[in-house]
Amino acid sequence: MKILTIVGARPQFIKAAVVSRAIKNCMQATGSTIQELIVHTGQHYDQNMSDIFFDEMQIPKPHFQLAVGSGSHAQQTGQMLIRLEEAMLNEKPDMVLIYGDTNSTLAGAMAAAKLHIPIAHVEAGLRSFNHKMPEEINRILADRVSSLLLCPTDEAVKNLATEGIPCPRLGTKVIKTGDVMNDAALFYGKLATNAWLKKHSLNPQKYILATIHRAESTDAPEKLQKLLVTLDLISRKHHPVVWPMHPRTSNMIRNNPELNKTLEQASFIAIDPIGYLDMVCAEKNARLIVTDSGGVQKEAFFHKIPCVTMRTETEWVELVEAGWNKIAGLEPENIISAVETMLALDTKKLPYPDLYGSGKAGENIVKELIKWGKENDK
Ligand code: UD1
Ligand code: UDP
Repeated sequence: MKILTIVGARPQFIKAAVVSRAIKNCMQATGSTIQELIVHTGQHYDQNMSDIFFDEMQIPKPHFQLAVGSGSHAQQTGQMLIRLEEAMLNEKPDMVLIYGDTNSTLAGAMAAAKLHIPIAHVEAGLRSFNHKMPEEINRILADRVSSLLLCPTDEAVKNLATEGIPCPRLGTKVIKTGDVMNDAALFYGKLATNAWLKKHSLNPQKYILATIHRAESTDAPEKLQKLLVTLDLISRKHHPVVWPMHPRTSNMIRNNPELNKTLEQASFIAIDPIGYLDMVCAEKNARLIVTDSGGVQKEAFFHKIPCVTMRTETEWVELVEAGWNKIAGLEPENIISAVETMLALDTKKLPYPDLYGSGKAGENIVKELIKWGKENDK
């Protein structure tokens, strides 16, 4: 069976690393043949946003580099569609494998659906119920045209059911596989060292890790200014805040003199984005994580670190219900209050429910792909 995997953005490299490894292991164990060809759309392209993950996580080299780069949603998605259609027409895959909710996900789904190529969607069924988020549009549309909907959580399965998926008339299938990011934390977490801590002269449990990259946090300078001031305050009052800065955020700051001035005077430590292994080290030694990232919210839980989410909602509601994550919104006083609450929390007393599986999501996904191949004579 020939599978075309579409990736383009940082979290997709991490998710694809798990599934590509599982494909390789499954072929060795069972002798089944899956030919996986990876297409990199080029949505993320800086060395520390792309190549570092392929190198560190030993992801097979992409077969196609579409080099689409940055642009408006329409420009980026449109360019991807054109180039993905060509790759799909040339390769004629039996199935297209897409991840998450980025513009690369949507373009992969649209190109494949119009060519009648079945789609498997990893991380299907997540919803924020906020239609202003580009990711929400991407994931709803991708789910709507997918044949195999591979869900990380019970909540994701429930969300799809509410939307009438699976649809018997379309023959679509919904399967709960567990979360591939849990697999990544377990497998690659073992390879992480403490070198990153030493490099920044940090002590375990004595710093707060922050990441911010969502359009709704960064695109309006006044909102970003408030976040910079808030993280500066937290850094002065509690523990130093260390902030690996996504290029969307650093570009925004660089191009705005007022934001730049705040950054220069701030007490937090802003650094360039780091690779996954350093990120694991940064996460598991943090006293607290403050983020607007989807993936980082879960990784906080995987490493048993409390988390404050600087958004008004989350797709990972089970983390909030379990008490490990607090939704703070974007207003400074709410973020500061949530940080203080979570710093005071005794996490040893918190339940640690099994929310994301036992590290076998990759294996479960590959089993489903093989099953689908057999059922469809591929
Ligand atoms: C994208 C995804 C988001 C995901 C995030 C992961 C969409 C709509 N959004 O957001 O769901 O959470 O990736 O990180 O697909 N840039 C660089 N170098 C790079 C990549 C980006 O400088 O290697 C800068 C460019 O100025 C670009 C901006 O970052 O315009 C935003 O990049 P883009 O890929 O459009 O969106 P992300 O914010 O990264
Ligand atoms: N990540 C990383 N280096 C960083 C910041 C994040 O390796 O400097 C990893 C993080 O550990 C997680 C993934 O990138 O696995 C999350 O990606 P991001 O926050 O960009 O996107 P989201 O998950 O919100 O879509």
